[in-house]
Amino acid sequence: MQMKKNYLFSFTVFLIAICLCPAAWAADHGAKAPKKVGILLVAFGSSQPSARVSFENIDKKVKTAYPEIPVRWAYTSHIIRKKLAKQGIFLDSPEVALAKMRDEGFSHVAVQSLHTIGGAEYHDLRRTVGAFKMLGGFQRIILGYPLLATQEDMQRAVQAVIESIPKDRQPAEAVVLMGHGTHHPANAFYAALMFQLQLNDPNIFVGTVEGYPQVDLIKELLLKRKIKKAYLMPLMSVAGDHAKNDMAGPEEDSWQSILTKAGITCVPILKGTAEYDSFVAIWVSHLQGPLSHFN
Ligand code: CO
Repeated sequence: MQMKKNYLFSFTVFLIAICLCPAAWAADHGAKAPKKVGILLVAFGSSQPSARVSFENIDKKVKTAYPEIPVRWAYTSHIIRKKLAKQGIFLDSPEVALAKMRDEGFSHVAVQSLHTIGGAEYHDLRRTVGAFKMLGGFQRIILGYPLLATQEDMQRAVQAVIESIPKDRQPAEAVVLMGHGTHHPANAFYAALMFQLQLNDPNIFVGTVEGYPQVDLIKELLLKRKIKKAYLMPLMSVAGDHAKNDMAGPEEDSWQSILTKAGITCVPILKGTAEYDSFVAIWVSHLQGPLSHFN
């Protein structure tokens, strides 16, 4: 995934969107608009059809929890949106989605991050939400936490990981989670999660593709414990490109290849965290905070 986001582009789109709907913004000068609450779900996005299961599951759970509130979607990745547009699937950026919601007369919007940690993308989204707040686009606009934010989230995530492990896995076999990883300071969440997982089960490990800990360190830890078999699972909402290629791909530098070469039998599980209800419940519960402020 391309983590580097083009801010100038996003902000330009945002400004254009504002300019395109002056009537909506001018409406603020008159009487207060009637209350209309909406939810905007924001993911990085994925162009893989296998990712759709994850997003459909989240969509269903949010609509079940809040049947009376309209739900909109946005993908932060420009590249993914461009790829999907070529297939005739059109997703908005958060900026455009919010401008449209403003135009539709939403007065209160809960923006829910579907990210795993509060990393670079989450903070990009914070800035977008902040810009709309600053411009007075809505009476209230609040951003919900990503999957792992509070200590309670960490404890719930530990339970969700344990529940998602295949039943035939033996205690002497490892479970290796593959997080995305980031240059952002929030990368520390991955090692923090591993620590808390290992308090429950010493053979669960968390590595990342682009941050710390990397697969080489995970390999060393597995060899030190004389692990012979490992279940590989993505710690990402979708089983997309990273899960298929970096985790379980045939290339020499995939996690499966690296660990297999070290004598560890690998069982890759190609399921994103958002395919498990116990993970989705954490994201959905994060909507409670923003929505409770709208009463
Ligand atoms: Co990526």
